[in-house]
Amino acid sequence: MVDLTDKVVLVTGASSGIGAAMARCFSREGAYVALTARSREGLHRTSKTCPGPTLEIPGDLLRSADREKIVDRILERWNRIDVLVNNAGLGMYGSFLEVTEEIWRRVFEINLFAAMEMTRSVLPVMLERDRGPIFSPARS
Ligand SMILES: NC(=O)c1ccc[n+]([C@@H]2O[C@H](COP(=O)([O-])OP(=O)(O)OC[C@H]3O[C@@H](n4cnc5c(N)ncnc54)[C@H](OP(=O)(O)O)[C@@H]3O)[C@@H](O)[C@H]2O)c1
Repeated sequence: MVDLTDKVVLVTGASSGIGAAMARCFSREGAYVALTARSREGLHRTSKTCPGPTLEIPGDLLRSADREKIVDRILERWNRIDVLVNNAGLGMYGSFLEVTEEIWRRVFEINLFAAMEMTRSVLPVMLERDRGPIFSPARS
């Protein structure tokens, strides 16, 4: 079992669903949890269920300026990022044959490319300390 006490964990897609649940779990384990997603209300809702310190950072992961802002805000507050959880994404439901190319591209933009870019933004911070797990659960 990994000790998360005082670890700084960034959870993307923390305004609802799996991301909100993971944020809550990390917080219960003693982590400092940075929450990001586009919905301010959703982030606030998640934050209220976390027993430990949280930082709510609204942003759209498809925008590079927002990704940079997320990293900057965490470093300003806690000066490090110990764990990145690339959870934000879109589910795609329905018939494979009926899905349009536009939907495929939207799904891959957030589920794959935004996760890769978020990793690229966070990795230098982790490499400075030569540590930092990065999780990308359930990527398409
Ligand atoms: N639930 C399942 O059974 C299941 C199974 C396999 C895989 N997954 C995958 O696991 C991930 C989470 O699933 P979920 O069920 O928890 O879905 P969810 O409740 O819809 O959560 C998706 C999260 O991603 C965020 N998000 C979406 N687009 C974003 C963007 N452009 N910028 C920043 N944040 C964005 C959403 O926040 P905002 O809308 O506030 O931005 C939300 O917090 C998804 O990738 C999903 O495809 C889920």
